[in-house]
Amino acid sequence: MTRVLYPGSFDPITLGHMDVIRRCAAVFDEVVVAVLRNTAKPGLLQHAERLRLIRESCAGLGNVRAVAFSGLLADLAAREGIHLMVKGLRGVLDFENEKAQAHINRTLGKGLETVLMPSSAGMEHISSTLVREVAMLKGDISDLVPQCVADALRSFHFEQR
Ligand code: PNS
Repeated sequence: MTRVLYPGSFDPITLGHMDVIRRCAAVFDEVVVAVLRNTAKPGLLQHAERLRLIRESCAGLGNVRAVAFSGLLADLAAREGIHLMVKGLRGVLDFENEKAQAHINRTLGKGLETVLMPSSAGMEHISSTLVREVAMLKGDISDLVPQCVADALRSFHFEQR
């Protein structure tokens, strides 16, 4: 049974993330979506809300599970007994950074490997950062995120942040 870790901040989950999750769910036995809890950098959505939105977005995918983590990815992979992780690759700008992280995780994780999955055509421009910015300025994000995320951000009180 091949299980794979898909880590990220998911602040919020986007259609780009969903593209990677769906394709992984089709080729691996289980996909564990690992949501970073970063207390030093709280982000926009509360951690519990990010998890809720991932779980709702992935409800139709029986072999996808979302977990919270803090600390090192390599430690989470060891706890989960997982030896492979997937990162989405939108373009060349992502590549050098992902390559460096892959080397570090392979060392820390004693062989923990990283597979880089290129975005599907038409998904390369989608990022959580841009989604947050457009949503904050009350723009339409319905082509960028799952419906539940669009609904959650439409009623989000940005002025509280
Ligand atoms: O969605 P993001 O913000 O690009 O995800 C970044 C993430 C969660 C993959 C990265 O911050 C991370 O790996 N955090 C865990 C800390 C860690 O293990 N660092 C060492 C490996 S570089």
